[in-house]
Amino acid sequence: MTALLGFSGSLRRRSFNTALLRATAELAPEGVTLTLADYRDVPLYDGDLETPASVERLKAEVAAADGVIIATPEYNYGIPGPLKNVLDWLSRPAYQSVFRDKPVAILGAAPGVVGTARAQGQLKQVLLGMASEVFPWPEVLVGSCAARFDDSLALTDEKTREVVGAMVAAFAMRVARGR
Ligand SMILES: Cc1cc2nc3c(=O)[nH]c(=O)nc-3n(C[C@H](O)[C@H](O)[C@H](O)COP(=O)(O)O)c2cc1C
Repeated sequence: MTALLGFSGSLRRRSFNTALLRATAELAPEGVTLTLADYRDVPLYDGDLETPASVERLKAEVAAADGVIIATPEYNYGIPGPLKNVLDWLSRPAYQSVFRDKPVAILGAAPGVVGTARAQGQLKQVLLGMASEVFPWPEVLVGSCAARFDDSLALTDEKTREVVGAMVAAFAMRVARGR
């Protein structure tokens, strides 16, 4: 069994990125599970605070996962603040955190044609700063996303399903090799 943990960079109920993670879970090979992390209750990072219980819980979830998959929107050419905030919490202690050497794959969905290329580049940089092992390829950039999901937010575009399925299969193999 391979257990993956997913983070959506969007908190909104009808998020395309959360929907993309759900599709990834559905398209994952047999024996691979993808559970979504919930980080709504994580406060703004403040080095004066004791590590909150919500962060301790997430640290345990990341530690227990064989790999992490992050689906990020692009906000003003970058990654969303809430996502950066939770990564900052989880990155402590520096270079010794639960993200150190953790395989991490990235995907992203956006209504525009560029489809999160800039945000994904920025997220890779952040993960390198956390000493994570960034999964480089295949990349999944879902542009014009509104046309690729139906009203219930199921991923209906066949080509996108293929790309997502190929990525999660390759990532699961990579994760299994590293164990
Ligand atoms: C504050 C903010 C900034 C945004 N900036 C960008 C951007 O730079 N590039 C882009 O492609 N989309 C941008 N968008 C549009 C998002 O890609 C779009 O809202 C997307 O659906 C958000 O992802 P979600 O559906 O998972 O919530 C922005 C949206 C918000 C709320």
